[in-house]
Amino acid sequence: MNISKNAVFNEIIHLHGKGVSHVDIAKELKSKYSEISIGHEVLRKFVSGFLQIADLNADNSNIFKSIKESKGFLTYELKGDHNIASLDELIEYFEIDTNVYEVAGDWIANSWGSNRQVKAKFRKKQELILPPKDYELLKDRINKNPFIFKTKKQDHQMWLVLGCIHVPFENKILINAILNLIQDNKKNIHGIILNGDFLDLRSLSEYDKDKVGMDGITLGYEYQKGLELMLKIKKAFGKEYDRIKKVFIYGNHEARYFKHIDKVLNSRYGNALASPTEALRMEELGYQVQPNDKDGYVLLGNSLEVYHGIYYGANPAKDHLTKKPNRSAMFNHSHRVAYHSNGNHEAFNIGWLGDQNSKAFSYSSRFQKQAWQNAFGVVHIDSLGNHYVNTVKCHEKGFFFDGKSY
Ligand SMILES: [Fe+2]
Repeated sequence: MNISKNAVFNEIIHLHGKGVSHVDIAKELKSKYSEISIGHEVLRKFVSGFLQIADLNADNSNIFKSIKESKGFLTYELKGDHNIASLDELIEYFEIDTNVYEVAGDWIANSWGSNRQVKAKFRKKQELILPPKDYELLKDRINKNPFIFKTKKQDHQMWLVLGCIHVPFENKILINAILNLIQDNKKNIHGIILNGDFLDLRSLSEYDKDKVGMDGITLGYEYQKGLELMLKIKKAFGKEYDRIKKVFIYGNHEARYFKHIDKVLNSRYGNALASPTEALRMEELGYQVQPNDKDGYVLLGNSLEVYHGIYYGANPAKDHLTKKPNRSAMFNHSHRVAYHSNGNHEAFNIGWLGDQNSKAFSYSSRFQKQAWQNAFGVVHIDSLGNHYVNTVKCHEKGFFFDGKSY
């Protein structure tokens, strides 16, 4: 089969114009045109000879043209009897892709009589690294301030607090029952707080990274399932959705995202790796987001702080209240159900909503898991800002709420 000589010549000129070396042009031709049977070295010499002639023919004058590559820099130079007088013209002449290359340092343009010299050094553009928005927020602690929801006089607020759902390892039966509860009570509910560990983010876990057995659980899958539940919640509220206050607090599991991004400075992802906030479209869905899993909280009424929680020991309700005895607390980090009071204030440990039998939680021993309890919180705030908490304990397939079995 014959190959078109013109095609080969054009290819050589094209690659040469891009600054590809003669050796690499020869390699490129060999791989592209299997019909070329001459050896690499002969082909390289042919390329060099051809370019010499092509250059002379093209310019028909004493124009010196050179492209040199060294240590990642490319230097383009044009000297002699030509009418290129500026950097822009040089870029156009050599067809330098300014999306990829940028000028490195000074460039020169001289002229004497009819002769000119234009020379410039280029380097590959640095990739622009933009950390995702939440990451920046957390680092700067801008969003450390709590969200405070005050009640007006004569107002009664009912809040639903769902913690540690651990999508995609949630207890699906219970979540469906809660969606039914939302449908039944949407007109009375004032706000919903997703109180951390809404997502499991097992795919970013450091715990089980070397273990197999959870095939198919990718970050994309976890985000997809998380978003599906966010949309189901929206649907359950129906027309009331826009009125409902919506808060998303990060838990330590969402914070796995920050840990991951921090590694390697996994900054090589740039802003391409969506954060939970972005992936779950929280902004679009009207959520106020608190990405600080350790210090972020929502204050309901006068004194009930709702946060993900830190302590995990035998009596986390006591531990949390002891650390901050002048405020009441609601949290779920420990997955237990418990109550503690110091006389003035209370701590409510409101359980979790994951599927206890899922292999995803094999990192915890059966003794530890025995203490876990599926539950969630319902808070009423009266017009004076006092709180009245109902920790809704669940059995395997449902719960009772407001006189109804779900
Ligand atoms: Fe959790």
